[in-house]
Amino acid sequence: MCGIVGIVGKREVAPLLVDALKRLEYRGYDSAGVATIHEGHLDRRRAEGKLVNLDQKLGQYPLAGRIGIGHTRWATHGAPTENNAHPHFCSGIAVVHNGIIENFAPLRAELIADGAEFHSQTDTEVVAQLLAAYRKQGLAPRDAMQKALSRLEGAYALAVLFEDQPDMIIGARSGPPLAVGHGSGEMFLGSDAIALAPFTDEITYLNDGDWVVITCDRLEIYDQAGQPVERPSQISRGAAYVVDKGNHRHFMEKEIYEQPEVVAHTLSHYIDFAEGRVRLDTGRIDFANLDRLAMSACGTAYYAGLIGKYWFERFARLPVEIDVASEFRYREMPLPGKMAALFISQSGETADTLASLRYCKDNALTIGAVVNVQESTIARESDVVFPTLAGPEIGVASTKAFTCQLSVLAALAMIAGRARGTLSIEDETRMVQALVEAPRLFNEVLNAIQPQVETLSRELSRFKDVLYLGRGTSFPLALEGALKLKEISYIHAEGYAAGELKHGPIALIDENMPVIVIAPHDRHFEKTVSNMQEVAARGGQIILITDEKGAAATTLETMATIVLPQVDDIVAPILYALPVQLIAYHTAVFMGTDVDQPRNLAKSVTVE
Ligand code: F6R
Repeated sequence: MCGIVGIVGKREVAPLLVDALKRLEYRGYDSAGVATIHEGHLDRRRAEGKLVNLDQKLGQYPLAGRIGIGHTRWATHGAPTENNAHPHFCSGIAVVHNGIIENFAPLRAELIADGAEFHSQTDTEVVAQLLAAYRKQGLAPRDAMQKALSRLEGAYALAVLFEDQPDMIIGARSGPPLAVGHGSGEMFLGSDAIALAPFTDEITYLNDGDWVVITCDRLEIYDQAGQPVERPSQISRGAAYVVDKGNHRHFMEKEIYEQPEVVAHTLSHYIDFAEGRVRLDTGRIDFANLDRLAMSACGTAYYAGLIGKYWFERFARLPVEIDVASEFRYREMPLPGKMAALFISQSGETADTLASLRYCKDNALTIGAVVNVQESTIARESDVVFPTLAGPEIGVASTKAFTCQLSVLAALAMIAGRARGTLSIEDETRMVQALVEAPRLFNEVLNAIQPQVETLSRELSRFKDVLYLGRGTSFPLALEGALKLKEISYIHAEGYAAGELKHGPIALIDENMPVIVIAPHDRHFEKTVSNMQEVAARGGQIILITDEKGAAATTLETMATIVLPQVDDIVAPILYALPVQLIAYHTAVFMGTDVDQPRNLAKSVTVE
């Protein structure tokens, strides 16, 4: 999604803005731009594509100025051209925007009727035009801003420069986050603390509906009604993280290989290793007395939730209602008492997940959130936060956040099982022991399977379609495998419950459709083998991901069999995520795609 930065200070800002934008690259974007005010004159540089293009342009045509705003755009309204890139200008006003102005069409029509001329296809330009119209009516910048904000519907974070106010930036937030960074004689605006980390670690987050005026030495925050409000500042952890690839070719690769460490770190938060048991403190969520749990999330986080559903229902006998957040929020699901809600999100800013959370909150449910970004809106609006300790995930395709989400959900399902008296001490101890040993196994597996996966991926990169199959918790993993492959390699892939094969997708099977079967030797194994037979009988090529027992029990010829160590059911989906991720990663590398920033995708999806 779009990234915003703003700097008002004492140094030349154009290179600093570009540096900050580089730290926001991970969010996904397709054009970029900066604007500054120098000697009373507002000017901008914009470029299609990657920041390197903007950098080159600035090299050729430098921009002076000690105040400026910058933007990486992830196109929503209008193609990713230079002309649609932000900042958008109108009569000495510059605007950058993240989100969607939902009522832009009537606003645009109204402004055109009043004589405005539009120069882009974006929704953002209506904000610049609206501000210009109010300024023309004689309103001061702050009043114009407040009036313009009252007209906007949708989700937005904004940063605005006024040519006649060369020491002031106005920011606003309704939906996507916006943070103010406190410097010494300088102030900053940013979409997140990671962008501002080179400048400061003292951050004030705006609440939804807030807008802020920053000058080089102060900030004034106002709420929606225009009343001055105080928001606390905090020391952000964003600064502590070095955002680089280390010795890896891509962030995604680095993040895959970080999993043994971050999963161990996450598990240690929920498991008392000395006691060999899960920690029971779940704050306001009283698992013992729940009738049902509602869960929701998007994409990979949703698949983590689906696996969690299997665990909650099996180990805690707790029925789970789960849906993708874009459906959940509009489904008008009845939410009776004795129900709690759990939301899963890496970024903690996903618009649909946040809207689903608010729906549950309005219905008086206790809200829990499994989130990676602890300062995020979802974390702040939840009653109980269950952190994933994955560290910043920069690759657009989620990897380490997924396995950390699974680790938290596994622990929570066990905690719920213990609280509800449905999980015996023996089972809990066995599962804890299995989880404790898992990170070491992950390390071994990553190193052991890498050469085989590379060879296989070279083969896979020749195909146009791939099918993933699994049963039980391997079914959501099949969905995740297909998502991972298609989003970074652009090979069409589908995930199916293995039992569904004969209800339709079997029609697709031929020698051009490799089928990746995720099948640990668990209670579903024999059934999945039958489905593999059906594939083999129709000339389909099978890639089997299984364990030693599974490999020994299968006589079918496969294109490849990836053999993992034997593990407990609770560890299997976390462990099997590794080959699934590596297959997608290496295939994408062979295809030569932009692995960390795949086309059209954004890291933090703050629009519907
Ligand atoms: C896929 C992926 C996305 C996210 C989804 C939710 O690799 O990363 O499907 O999982 O956009 O994002 P968060 O977890 O930030 O709510």
